[in-house]
Amino acid sequence: MPAHPDHAELHYGDKVLKLPVTVGTEAEAGIDISSLRKETGAITLDPGYVNTGSCESAITYIDGEKGILRYRGIPIEELCERSTFLEVCYLLLYGELPTKDELDDFTNDIRTHTMLHEDVKRFFSVFPKKAHPMAVCAAVIGALSTFYPKSMDPRDHKQRDISTARIIAKLPTIAAYSFKHSIGQPFMYPQNKFDYSSNFLHLMFATPTEDYEVDPVIAKALDKLLILHADHEQNCSTSTVRMVGSSGANMFASLSAGVMALWGPLHGGANSAVVEMLQRIHESGDGGRAYMQAVKDRKEGIRLMGFGHRVYKSYDPRASILKTTTYEVLEKLKKSNPLLDVAVELEEIALKDSYFVERNLYPNVDFYSGLIYQAIGIPVNMFTVMFALGRLPGWIAQWREMQNDPATRISRPRQIYTGSAKRAYVPLEKRSPRRE
Ligand code: CMC
Repeated sequence: MPAHPDHAELHYGDKVLKLPVTVGTEAEAGIDISSLRKETGAITLDPGYVNTGSCESAITYIDGEKGILRYRGIPIEELCERSTFLEVCYLLLYGELPTKDELDDFTNDIRTHTMLHEDVKRFFSVFPKKAHPMAVCAAVIGALSTFYPKSMDPRDHKQRDISTARIIAKLPTIAAYSFKHSIGQPFMYPQNKFDYSSNFLHLMFATPTEDYEVDPVIAKALDKLLILHADHEQNCSTSTVRMVGSSGANMFASLSAGVMALWGPLHGGANSAVVEMLQRIHESGDGGRAYMQAVKDRKEGIRLMGFGHRVYKSYDPRASILKTTTYEVLEKLKKSNPLLDVAVELEEIALKDSYFVERNLYPNVDFYSGLIYQAIGIPVNMFTVMFALGRLPGWIAQWREMQNDPATRISRPRQIYTGSAKRAYVPLEKRSPRRE
């Protein structure tokens, strides 16, 4: 492990500032600049927060160079192999894997909150059938705060636990109803006898007229997908949840904002963008050559979706698990998907191409996940909702950690103003037209 000095020195004009260094469990270092503005009048500029740590956190550890991801110290590979999603939720929220009794209590808590208030159900009917399910989910999650006014105070620990159970229990119902509404099918009631993932599959695919049996292969694959998405430290949506929560906003409001942040194609929206890209490449029949050229020519808006990551500069460990899982699931379901061949071929081309090699661009979690969702029967516009379903416990754990952290202050970055200096007000009749 690299040894870090206990402080850094910053020379600014004739001042020398001693800035303390905070070192984490895995020897990653952060220079504490909290005295900077007070002492020098200057701020730091760091677009995209590439070099900025916003908090200390004990939840998730990533080593982007070595491709390591651990929740509360436990490697993701082991959790995927040996745990259920609800166990992982408990681990993220409370710091330890649950005992049998703790897990039973936690599971019961979740099971007894799966139904939506009948009035919440009426919300869905007013959204257009073509509404994107991410917008529907964010709106309904935000609306939950109108039904649970006691949840408004983020400092109320009892209400925090109740809201935690409520939203983990209800998001599968909300997500499935956004889909059912879009295809005009009746909403199914949750089935509390099922495990978390089986209940979601029932909500999505059962109808009142036919028997629906949950395929255990599919339920297990889904549980694994949810575990792999469950937390990823201070990514865009998690930072959004923390930022909104830092103002004292309630949990539902903060989570609703997180869903919106996740929606973008550079973040959670990449999983549907990947499958759309693979489909276009498949239809073009050229093995992706034209698309790859457009990526490397930096054609506006064209990137190899599902590749690259702010933190991982090697293979995303979630992507390697998902690649293997895609093959396993397709084999067990006796299905094939030509898009898997396209994806593997693209990956091979990219990993040998200097454009990607020089920039350390490797497959990320979104490169293969969509192919499993497709095999499960989830429509493409629901892929990012699946990501939200998985990320939910991480958002809540981070929100709770922030609320408990005495160092938390309202998130309020500064800026360097580059607009006009002070100038005179021009009366309406004397103004000239704005030039583009
Ligand atoms: N295809 C082509 N070029 C890329 C890609 C890509 N997918 N990703 C990064 N680059 C290039 C980029 O053009 C830049 O090149 P240069 O230095 O010559 O200007 C360099 O690599 C660094 O990229 P960046 O955009 O500065 O990196 P970032 O850390 O700001 O962005 C990212 C990370 C994930 C937004 C980006 O890699 C990307 O747009 N990937 C495609 C979208 C995607 O798959 N997103 C899912 C991320 S993983 C799940 C999640 O967290 O939601």
